[in-house]
Amino acid sequence: MKQDMIAVLDLGGQDNVQVARALREKGVYSEIHPHDIALEALKALPGIRGFIVNGGENRVVNGVSIDVDPALYTLGLPFLVVNHRGSRPNDLEAWPLDMGPALQDFIARCGAQANWSMENFIEDQVALIRQQVGDGKVLLALSGGVDSSVVAALLLRAIGDKLTCVHVNHGLLRKGEPEQVVRVFRQELGANLIYVDAVDRFLDKLAGVSDPEQKRKIIGAEFIRVFEEEARKLSGIDFLAQGTIYPDIIESGTKTAKAVKAHHNVGGLPKDLQFSLVEPLKYLFKDEVRACGVKLGLPHDMVYRQPFPGPGLGVRCLGAITRQRLEIVRESDAILREEFARHGLDKKVWQYFTVVPDFRAVGVRGHARAMEYPVILRAVNTVDAMTATVEPLLFPVLASITQRILAEVPGAGRVLYDLSPKPPATIEWE
Ligand code: XMP
Repeated sequence: MKQDMIAVLDLGGQDNVQVARALREKGVYSEIHPHDIALEALKALPGIRGFIVNGGENRVVNGVSIDVDPALYTLGLPFLVVNHRGSRPNDLEAWPLDMGPALQDFIARCGAQANWSMENFIEDQVALIRQQVGDGKVLLALSGGVDSSVVAALLLRAIGDKLTCVHVNHGLLRKGEPEQVVRVFRQELGANLIYVDAVDRFLDKLAGVSDPEQKRKIIGAEFIRVFEEEARKLSGIDFLAQGTIYPDIIESGTKTAKAVKAHHNVGGLPKDLQFSLVEPLKYLFKDEVRACGVKLGLPHDMVYRQPFPGPGLGVRCLGAITRQRLEIVRESDAILREEFARHGLDKKVWQYFTVVPDFRAVGVRGHARAMEYPVILRAVNTVDAMTATVEPLLFPVLASITQRILAEVPGAGRVLYDLSPKPPATIEWE
């Protein structure tokens, strides 16, 4: 292990992530662990140099006050005990408004080296993956999203052709995405990549289904089925790699968190197809995952792409999906992305896409009446996707996008801009 570590023990602090991130920003690797971590487990954390007991508002769980095992304080490791500001005024020490200097002092007291870097992380993970996998084989569902792409690149570096990637094209990806996955991973990085064209299969299953939740269920279940079929065709697979990242674990795993969100990844495989998991990104935050991808040589637009929902364009082709409207969504989305890039908005706006409803409006084409679909533009900014504001697009930008969509996308007859913030609207339309 190249890295020294300072652990943050979650004693109900709401700022555990901020503390861990602040330590990493100072170059010292940090992980968040539950307050009731066993003494042996704490001692065994690789590179452990000290720990912070981060108390806070959620320190009382179901009416019972929780605490760490007092024996932790006798380990001989330096520790810092803090309490959330204002929660229990007489209790312990509170974080100062700027926790930076206090952390710097503590780092010095621990004698921890500021040696957390992406190069070291990659080197460590390569060694750990090799150790875990040995002569085994690893399977990865490679969607082309940031997390699965970075996992693939990291595994390729570690184990090369012992990795098999499966890319399922369900027909709901954005324009050029399946091609990019094949080009980058098969041609440029030389990965074993199985490309599955499941477009007809998904669209047939979705035909006539208009309920959004039903659509999501079908897409999720069918994805697992296709992936399972591919896994059964391969022999000797021992491990399943997943792009789990640290927020997934923190959100679903803390004992004191108020809102616990279930985390879904490529779970759901049948019992006889349960592999051991390889999750090399599980301690990285999203921006660190991106930095890792860049270091591993992935294209910038793959690593910095905007969030894209699992059900893909399926929830942007409103109501029952038809091939014609799906193409209108895909082509208009591609134009929107091109125009945003041309105006430098791709680096500024958090999420932007187009939506096509399942009704037509009247218009004229070549002197004749034409019934064509409206295309709705959406461009929003947010920090956590819980609330969002609309990007105040300039009229000339809206006009150029409109002109291109009406000229280049067959079947699109009107363009509208959605001005609704979240709440009350959601970011997606269904
Ligand atoms: P809403 O529409 O709820 O979206 O305001 C918030 C964020 O979540 C994304 N989203 C999804 N992501 N599967 C996903 O993986 C889904 O079913 C899904 N629905 C919404 C949405 O794109 C936005 O970033």
